[in-house]
Order: sequence, then C-alpha cells, then structure tokens
Amino acid sequence: MRSILNFGIALNKLIIASALAFALNPALAQAVNEDAAMELAKAGKCFRCHSVEKAKKAPSYKRIAERYKGKADAEAKLVQHLSGTRSVKVEGGGDEEHDPPPAKDAADLKNLVHWILSRG
Ligand code: HEC
Repeated sequence: MRSILNFGIALNKLIIASALAFALNPALAQAVNEDAAMELAKAGKCFRCHSVEKAKKAPSYKRIAERYKGKADAEAKLVQHLSGTRSVKVEGGGDEEHDPPPAKDAADLKNLVHWILSRG
C-alpha cells in the first residue's frame, strides 16, 4: 500500500515537472504550425533572400536560429525585426528594404518567428 502511494506521488511530481518545462519554454509550449509559417514566408517573399540551410543574399534561417539559441529575448527581437520596414545590407553589397510579412495577426507572425528559431 505504501509503495503504491509513493509511486503515485512520484508520478505526480513527474507530471508537474514536465508541465512546468512546457510552461517555461515558449518554443515547447507553442507547437509550430509549419504550413502556416511556410505560407506566410512565401507570401512575404522571404525566400527571395533567405533559404533554410544555405546563405543567399541573407543569412540562412538555420544561421539566424543558431545566433539566437538560448537567448531569452530571441522571440521579441525577431518579432520587432519583422514588424516594420528597415534597410538591410545584403550579401554581395548594397542596401535593400526588409519588408514585414503580411501576417494575419500577432499570433501568425509569432508562429513564423518560432518556425525560424526552431531551424537551428
Ligand atoms: C531583400 C532581401 C531580403 C528579404 C526579401 C527578406 N530578408 Fe530577412 N534579412 C535579409 C538580410 C540581408 C538580413 C541580415 C540583416 C542583418 O542581420 O542586419 C536579414 C535578416 C533577417 C532576420 C534576422 C534578424 C536579426 O535580428 O537577426 C530574420 C528573422 C529575417 N530576416 C526574416 C525574414 C522574413 C520572415 C522575411 C519575409 C517576410 C525576410 N526576412 C525577407 C534580407 C532579406
């Protein structure tokens, strides 16, 4: 009887620990909708300059994800980067406009950011 009780308590602790891990890690808590991310990236013509793995006119999404790995402000930084038009220096020289993607809402943009951050 006592060992069953102990097992029950251990199991509860495990469940609470994994629930906490999900709650504390936004990347885990929010599953990425890959189709929606790809659709938004295509609509925003992101692949004109970025690829997932290879450097083109811009760093690959894998590079960007690696650069931000473990940084608590990664999501906020990228959301900010993608919330307005800015001028960026492209590979090979020259400045080009970095336009925001046509996101439906904040969650749509965040989903794209999470997709990028999970490429590394
Ligand atoms: C004209 C080419 C071009 C297009 C189109 C483009 N990008 Fe970029 N992007 C760049 C360049 C160049 C950089 C690197 C600039 C820098 O780090 O200063 C960059 C950087 C980024 C970064 C990293 C920003 C950071 O703070 O490190 C993200 C994320 C990003 N782009 C996402 C996107 C998305 C999403 C789209 C589509 C809506 C897009 N880009 C379209 C050229 C482009």
